[in-house]
Amino acid sequence: MARYLIANWKMNLPPEGMDAWMAAVAREDPRDVTLVFAPPFPFLRDAFAQRRRVGLAAQNCNDHPSGAYTGEVSPSMLRYCGAEYVILGHSERRNVYGEDDALIAKKLSIAIESGLKPVLCIGESLEVRDAGRVAQFLSDQISATAVPELERAGELVIAYEPVWAIGTGRNASGAMVAETLADIRNALAQLWRKSVPILYGGSVTPDNVDDLVANGTIDGFLVGGASLDSGKFLAILNGMR
Ligand code: PGA
Repeated sequence: MARYLIANWKMNLPPEGMDAWMAAVAREDPRDVTLVFAPPFPFLRDAFAQRRRVGLAAQNCNDHPSGAYTGEVSPSMLRYCGAEYVILGHSERRNVYGEDDALIAKKLSIAIESGLKPVLCIGESLEVRDAGRVAQFLSDQISATAVPELERAGELVIAYEPVWAIGTGRNASGAMVAETLADIRNALAQLWRKSVPILYGGSVTPDNVDDLVANGTIDGFLVGGASLDSGKFLAILNGMR
């Protein structure tokens, strides 16, 4: 199974600057890990020019090919800027910008039609976890966004990101993630025959990566805060080896 390590800078830039960050990451041989870098939109073109051994991801896209949508960016424009992947369904898009499953499904369809490879984020709130409804909740989230185009996607990656672990410093334990990933694989098996890499995201750091990789079920990580420091990002990569 392919393994991924994705840097999601969100609306931040690294203190060391993008050029230094890219140069540091380029010096490292990721071997069997696919490195993907998701800067804010305006930095995609520069990142594309400078990239070595990293794929580029957009952090979002619009659900239309073009038109009167002030402030929005279409999937084909992102392709033009060098993006190969797009992160969709991130909990910040769902919770801060009110994106529901129907909108995420539309974005998935058009992104795939435009040749972008989706990184689909799913994840439960603390309320859902405390109520013991995680497996059902994630299965429902997957079914609600299981558009037919997903079968045709060149590559599909799922990122399991429990909402309560994102940016909080409170990561899920390796054992908890392994159990939840088994539930997600069950839900996916009802929909597709192909196997899909499943990443974990939520306060991943060099300090907790060993525990997360120990049981060997996680296919990589989507990293926010710690990805803003090339040293920490590369330490996470080393922890995956
Ligand atoms: P975090 O973000 O690593 O800062 O928790 C992860 C994400 O939102 O993708």
